[in-house]
Amino acid sequence: GGRVVVTAGPTREPIDPVRFISNPSSGKMGYAVAAVAARRGAEVTLVSGPTELADPVGVEVVRVQTAEEMARAVDAAAAAMDLFVGAAAVSDYRPATPSASKIKKGAGDETLVLSRTPDILASLGARYGGRKDGPVLVGFAAETEEVIARAREKLKSKRCDLVVANKVGGPGAGFGSDTNRVALVSAAELAEIEGPKERIGEAILDWILPVLEGRRPRER
Ligand code: C5P
Repeated sequence: GGRVVVTAGPTREPIDPVRFISNPSSGKMGYAVAAVAARRGAEVTLVSGPTELADPVGVEVVRVQTAEEMARAVDAAAAAMDLFVGAAAVSDYRPATPSASKIKKGAGDETLVLSRTPDILASLGARYGGRKDGPVLVGFAAETEEVIARAREKLKSKRCDLVVANKVGGPGAGFGSDTNRVALVSAAELAEIEGPKERIGEAILDWILPVLEGRRPRER
C-alpha cells in the first residue's frame, strides 16, 4: 500500500534536433524494481527515460527525455511518497545552448559547452534525508573502480538510506545485462547480491521494508 517512485533508464540531452548526449542504460534494473514493488502491492510511478522496455504491469509510467524533465516528473509524483528508488542513469551534463537547427560540419574541431543538470536524488536527500517523517531514499552507484568506497561517499553526500553499488565494465552486470552483481551499502551494513535483476529488486525491497515500517505513515 505504500507510494513508490522509481526512476529508470538513461536521459537524452539534445545537442541539436538530430543529436544528443546519452548513455547505454537499458532501464532493466529500475523496471525490475518497479515491477516487484507493484506485485507486492505498492502504488508505483515509474519515471523513465527512453527505453525499449514494455510498461510493467500495474505501474504508472511517465516517459521523459531530459534530466530536467525527469526532475520535474519526479517532483510531480513525489507528494507523500514513502519510497524513492533512483535507478536512472541521469546525465550529469547537458549542452548549454542546444541548437534549434542541425549543426553543420566544418573543416575544424568543434567545442561543446556543457551545463550541469539537476541532481534529482541529491535534492530529495537535501529535502528529506535523515528525517523520520520523510520517504526512504535509495540511490544507485555505477562505478568502474573503488565501488564500495564511492557508494559510501554517495550515501553521505546525497543523504540516502541505501546505495546499490554496481561495478560496471565486467560481464554479467551493469548496463544492458539481465543479471547484475551489486552490493547494498547502508550506514550499518553491506550485503552482496548476484542474480537476475528481478531478484536484485526483491532484495532491495526486502532491505527497505523494515526501514519503512520504522517510519511514521506519510500524510496523504
Ligand atoms: O553521482 P552519481 O550520478 O554517480 O549518482 C548516482 C545516483 O544519483 C543514482 O541513483 C542516480 O539515479 C542519481 N542521480 C540523479 N540525478 C542526477 C545524477 C544522478 O538522481 N542528475
